[in-house]
Amino acid sequence: MLDIWKSNGLATRFRMSNRKVGCWIFAYGSLIWKPEFPYLTKRVATLEGFTRRFWQGSIDHRGMPGAPGRVVTLVKDPNGSCEGLIFGVSDARREEVLNALDVREKGGYERNVYPVTPRGSTGTKVEALVYRAGPSNPNFLGPADIESIARQVSSSCGPSGNNLEYVRNLHESLRDLRIWDPHVTKLAMALETIGVN
Ligand code: SIN
Repeated sequence: MLDIWKSNGLATRFRMSNRKVGCWIFAYGSLIWKPEFPYLTKRVATLEGFTRRFWQGSIDHRGMPGAPGRVVTLVKDPNGSCEGLIFGVSDARREEVLNALDVREKGGYERNVYPVTPRGSTGTKVEALVYRAGPSNPNFLGPADIESIARQVSSSCGPSGNNLEYVRNLHESLRDLRIWDPHVTKLAMALETIGVN
Protein backbone atom coordinates (compact mmCIF):
# COMPACT_ATOMS: atom_id res chain seq x y z
CA MET A 1 0.00 0.00 0.00
CA LEU A 2 2.85 2.34 0.84
CA ASP A 3 4.25 1.97 -2.69
CA ILE A 4 0.93 2.90 -4.27
CA TRP A 5 0.73 5.97 -2.03
CA LYS A 6 4.22 7.03 -2.99
CA SER A 7 3.80 6.58 -6.72
CA ASN A 8 0.39 8.21 -7.10
CA GLY A 9 0.83 11.18 -4.80
CA LEU A 10 -1.57 13.20 -2.72
CA ALA A 11 -4.82 12.69 -4.62
CA THR A 12 -4.55 8.90 -4.38
CA ARG A 13 -3.55 9.05 -0.74
CA PHE A 14 -6.65 11.11 -0.07
CA ARG A 15 -8.94 8.73 -2.00
CA MET A 16 -7.55 5.73 -0.14
CA SER A 17 -7.83 7.20 3.35
CA ASN A 18 -11.28 8.42 2.30
CA ARG A 19 -12.52 4.82 2.01
CA LYS A 20 -12.12 4.16 5.73
CA VAL A 21 -13.74 7.43 6.79
CA GLY A 22 -17.25 7.33 8.26
CA CYS A 23 -17.68 11.11 8.37
CA TRP A 24 -15.73 14.30 7.79
CA ILE A 25 -15.75 17.14 10.31
CA PHE A 26 -14.85 20.61 9.07
CA ALA A 27 -12.95 22.67 11.66
CA TYR A 28 -12.43 26.43 11.36
CA GLY A 29 -11.84 27.56 14.98
CA SER A 30 -10.62 25.81 18.11
CA LEU A 31 -11.27 22.41 16.51
CA ILE A 32 -8.30 23.14 14.23
CA TRP A 33 -5.73 23.35 17.02
CA LYS A 34 -7.48 21.34 19.71
CA PRO A 35 -9.66 18.65 18.11
CA GLU A 36 -9.47 16.34 21.14
CA PHE A 37 -11.16 13.48 19.28
CA PRO A 38 -9.77 10.42 17.48
CA TYR A 39 -9.43 10.81 13.71
CA LEU A 40 -7.92 8.82 10.86
CA THR A 41 -6.69 11.63 8.68
CA LYS A 42 -6.87 15.40 8.25
CA ARG A 43 -6.58 17.78 5.37
CA VAL A 44 -6.89 21.50 4.58
CA ALA A 45 -10.25 22.17 2.92
CA THR A 46 -12.37 25.10 1.72
CA LEU A 47 -16.00 25.82 2.50
CA GLU A 48 -17.60 28.17 -0.04
CA GLY A 49 -20.31 30.72 0.83
CA PHE A 50 -19.17 31.54 4.37
CA THR A 51 -16.52 33.66 6.07
CA ARG A 52 -14.94 33.18 9.52
CA ARG A 53 -15.79 35.96 11.97
CA PHE A 54 -15.23 36.60 15.69
CA TRP A 55 -18.94 37.29 16.06
CA GLN A 56 -19.94 34.54 18.50
CA GLY A 57 -20.01 35.17 22.24
CA SER A 58 -18.53 32.52 24.51
CA ILE A 59 -19.81 32.21 28.05
CA ASP A 60 -18.74 28.59 28.59
CA HIS A 61 -15.18 28.44 27.17
CA ARG A 62 -13.49 31.83 26.73
CA GLY A 63 -15.75 34.07 28.77
CA MET A 64 -18.39 33.98 31.48
CA PRO A 65 -22.10 34.76 31.69
CA GLY A 66 -22.33 38.55 31.72
CA ALA A 67 -18.76 38.86 30.40
CA PRO A 68 -18.62 36.88 27.13
CA GLY A 69 -15.45 36.31 25.19
CA ARG A 70 -15.41 36.33 21.39
CA VAL A 71 -14.89 33.16 19.32
CA VAL A 72 -15.37 32.37 15.66
CA THR A 73 -18.44 31.34 13.77
CA LEU A 74 -19.25 31.14 10.07
CA VAL A 75 -21.20 33.99 8.54
CA LYS A 76 -23.07 33.56 5.27
CA ASP A 77 -21.29 35.37 2.45
CA PRO A 78 -22.22 34.39 -1.12
CA ASN A 79 -18.87 35.67 -2.45
CA GLY A 80 -16.74 34.42 0.44
CA SER A 81 -15.07 31.21 1.50
CA CYS A 82 -13.42 29.81 4.61
CA GLU A 83 -10.38 27.58 4.69
CA GLY A 84 -10.00 25.16 7.59
CA LEU A 85 -9.28 21.50 8.23
CA ILE A 86 -11.36 18.41 7.63
CA PHE A 87 -10.89 15.50 9.99
CA GLY A 88 -11.86 12.01 8.83
CA VAL A 89 -13.49 10.00 11.62
CA SER A 90 -14.08 6.24 11.40
CA ASP A 91 -17.62 4.91 11.33
CA ALA A 92 -16.94 3.04 14.57
CA ARG A 93 -16.05 6.27 16.46
CA ARG A 94 -18.53 8.60 14.72
CA GLU A 95 -21.32 8.51 17.32
CA GLU A 96 -18.97 8.93 20.28
CA VAL A 97 -17.11 11.82 18.60
CA LEU A 98 -20.29 13.69 17.63
CA ASN A 99 -21.82 13.26 21.07
CA ALA A 100 -18.70 14.77 22.66
CA LEU A 101 -18.64 17.62 20.13
CA ASP A 102 -22.32 18.38 20.72
CA VAL A 103 -21.45 18.97 24.38
CA ARG A 104 -18.32 20.98 23.63
CA GLU A 105 -20.08 23.19 21.07
CA LYS A 106 -23.31 23.60 23.04
CA GLY A 107 -22.91 27.36 23.49
CA GLY A 108 -24.90 28.16 20.33
CA TYR A 109 -23.41 25.95 17.61
CA GLU A 110 -25.54 23.56 15.57
CA ARG A 111 -24.55 20.71 13.30
CA ASN A 112 -24.86 21.36 9.56
CA VAL A 113 -23.71 19.40 6.54
CA TYR A 114 -21.97 21.34 3.76
CA PRO A 115 -19.85 20.34 0.76
CA VAL A 116 -16.15 21.24 1.17
CA THR A 117 -13.23 20.98 -1.23
CA PRO A 118 -10.07 19.33 0.12
CA ARG A 119 -6.82 21.06 -0.90
CA GLY A 120 -5.23 19.25 -3.86
CA SER A 121 -8.31 17.12 -4.61
CA THR A 122 -8.78 18.54 -8.15
CA GLY A 123 -12.14 20.02 -7.22
CA THR A 124 -13.84 16.88 -5.85
CA LYS A 125 -16.06 17.82 -2.90
CA VAL A 126 -16.86 15.84 0.23
CA GLU A 127 -19.81 16.35 2.59
CA ALA A 128 -18.62 17.54 5.99
CA LEU A 129 -20.29 18.15 9.33
CA VAL A 130 -19.87 21.75 10.41
CA TYR A 131 -20.65 23.28 13.80
CA ARG A 132 -21.96 26.76 13.05
CA ALA A 133 -23.42 29.34 15.45
CA GLY A 134 -26.13 31.18 13.52
CA PRO A 135 -27.31 34.74 14.13
CA SER A 136 -30.39 33.69 16.12
CA ASN A 137 -28.53 31.80 18.86
CA PRO A 138 -28.63 33.54 22.27
CA ASN A 139 -24.86 34.05 22.47
CA PHE A 140 -24.46 35.63 19.04
CA LEU A 141 -22.80 39.06 19.32
CA GLY A 142 -22.50 40.04 15.67
CA PRO A 143 -20.17 42.54 14.05
CA ALA A 144 -18.06 45.15 15.82
CA ASP A 145 -15.00 47.15 14.78
CA ILE A 146 -11.76 45.22 15.13
CA GLU A 147 -10.43 47.43 17.98
CA SER A 148 -13.54 46.74 20.09
CA ILE A 149 -13.22 43.02 19.41
CA ALA A 150 -9.56 43.18 20.45
CA ARG A 151 -10.41 44.99 23.70
CA GLN A 152 -13.09 42.42 24.50
CA VAL A 153 -10.70 39.53 23.74
CA SER A 154 -7.96 41.05 25.86
CA SER A 155 -10.18 41.21 28.95
CA SER A 156 -12.06 37.89 28.63
CA CYS A 157 -11.38 34.58 30.29
CA GLY A 158 -13.41 31.40 30.85
CA PRO A 159 -13.19 27.75 31.93
CA SER A 160 -11.10 26.79 28.84
CA GLY A 161 -8.61 29.62 29.34
CA ASN A 162 -8.21 33.21 28.29
CA ASN A 163 -9.64 34.56 25.07
CA LEU A 164 -6.28 35.86 23.93
CA GLU A 165 -4.90 32.32 23.81
CA TYR A 166 -7.80 31.29 21.52
CA VAL A 167 -6.95 34.07 19.04
CA ARG A 168 -3.22 33.41 19.26
CA ASN A 169 -3.61 29.65 18.69
CA LEU A 170 -5.96 30.14 15.77
CA HIS A 171 -3.73 32.77 14.16
CA GLU A 172 -0.62 30.59 14.51
CA SER A 173 -2.37 27.42 13.29
CA LEU A 174 -3.70 29.18 10.19
CA ARG A 175 -0.23 30.54 9.45
CA ASP A 176 1.31 27.05 9.84
CA LEU A 177 -1.32 25.62 7.47
CA ARG A 178 -0.68 28.47 4.99
CA ILE A 179 -4.24 29.71 5.31
CA TRP A 180 -4.64 33.45 4.84
CA ASP A 181 -7.56 35.01 6.73
CA PRO A 182 -7.49 38.83 6.82
CA HIS A 183 -10.05 39.07 9.66
CA VAL A 184 -7.95 36.87 11.98
CA THR A 185 -4.74 38.68 10.98
CA LYS A 186 -6.30 42.11 11.61
CA LEU A 187 -7.43 40.99 15.05
CA ALA A 188 -3.96 39.62 15.91
CA MET A 189 -2.46 42.96 14.79
CA ALA A 190 -5.01 44.97 16.81
CA LEU A 191 -4.09 42.91 19.89
CA GLU A 192 -0.42 43.69 19.27
CA THR A 193 -1.25 47.39 18.96
CA ILE A 194 -2.93 47.43 22.35
CA GLY A 195 0.09 45.59 23.70
CA VAL A 196 -1.32 42.22 24.65
CA ASN A 197 -0.19 39.82 21.93
C1 SIN B 1 -14.76 24.94 15.00
O1 SIN B 1 -13.63 25.05 15.44
O2 SIN B 1 -14.94 24.36 13.91
C2 SIN B 1 -15.99 25.43 15.73
C3 SIN B 1 -15.78 26.71 16.46
C4 SIN B 1 -14.95 26.59 17.70
O3 SIN B 1 -15.19 25.68 18.52
O4 SIN B 1 -14.05 27.42 17.88
